[in-house]
Amino acid sequence: MSERSPGLAIETAGLVKTFGETRAVDGVDLAVPTGTVYGVLGPNGAGKTTTVKMLATLLRPDGGEARVFGHDVVREADEVRGRVSLTGQYASVDEDLTGSENLVLLGRLLGHGKRAAHERGDQLLAAFGLTEAAGKQVKHYSGGMRRRIDIAASILNTPDLLFLDEPTTGLDPRSRNQVWDIVRAVVSQGTTVLLTTQYLDEADQLASRIAVIDRGKVIAEGTKGELKASVGAGSVHLRLRDPAQRPQAEQVLRLALDADVQLEPDPVALTARVGAGSANGQGAAEQAARALAELARGGVVVDNFSLGQPSLDEVFLALTGHDTHAGSPDGTESEAAA
Ligand SMILES: Nc1ncnc2c1ncn2[C@@H]1O[C@H](COP(=O)(O)OP(=O)(O)O)[C@@H](O)[C@H]1O
Ligand SMILES: [Mg+2]
Repeated sequence: MSERSPGLAIETAGLVKTFGETRAVDGVDLAVPTGTVYGVLGPNGAGKTTTVKMLATLLRPDGGEARVFGHDVVREADEVRGRVSLTGQYASVDEDLTGSENLVLLGRLLGHGKRAAHERGDQLLAAFGLTEAAGKQVKHYSGGMRRRIDIAASILNTPDLLFLDEPTTGLDPRSRNQVWDIVRAVVSQGTTVLLTTQYLDEADQLASRIAVIDRGKVIAEGTKGELKASVGAGSVHLRLRDPAQRPQAEQVLRLALDADVQLEPDPVALTARVGAGSANGQGAAEQAARALAELARGGVVVDNFSLGQPSLDEVFLALTGHDTHAGSPDGTESEAAA
């Protein structure tokens, strides 16, 4: 288990993989603490799967170094393989077998006795809400069920490190939530998870630290709070009682917050960014409170007020100057797997 290797589960330095002219992974440095979910966030083609495959010893790096629990992924590939498991855009389950048959077969291949393989299979099917579907061929599973059986198959033996490569791409919101719960359960058992995703809210929900990757390079890394702080501490949203007071409110906010104020289509609503550079968000709350006091002093009646953190979408836009090209989180269309 992870306790045997305190510190870092993954450490890479200058990791490179090229395919012909394409530098799919172009000098990636990662440090993933054990026992956490680490998010690798990036759009399609960013190099996420290629990075995961190198870390899981399925692809040989062309440059740089990568260690998993201190073992070099090239020179000590066997040690690495013994401690990791991978669920991803290609899967180990057999479409023609039932969910139960798949788990029992894989359990036997991992060296479990017949009885133990059945027990572990049943346990995972129940934990993942697949008991009723246990006797159905996997090819008849829905997308969400398929993703869950893939993850179940990858944790038959509890791995120290689990790679989840876009585990929810193309899933409906309900299935995404089920997968998220599974990820949380896996981590609570002590497994470190490296999760790749195109979904900013997914990284936000699950990961402790996030690396934002674009065109093979890490363009930002840190805790969620740190990433968000790099584009500002938050936005203030206001709704006024009287639309006629909006010009006055706009002026007061602009002065009090020293920020651009946006007039929303709703004639009583305004939004302003606050506190770029105030890393812990405390400054933002203070500034917002001061602005509210100014409004009250000026006789502007505020019906509704909120202070929100910027979304990771805004973070990505600020970092890359382009959007993520990611499908909408609740879209059910699946992007072509690279
Ligand atoms: N086997 C391969 N042969 C050629 N190019 C590849 C191969 N695998 C990935 N690529 C290219 O490398 C880049 C990164 O791909 P990938 O790691 O799959 O990105 P992601 O998983 O973030 O979508 C893309 O431009 C992709 O087309
Ligand atoms: Mg991929």
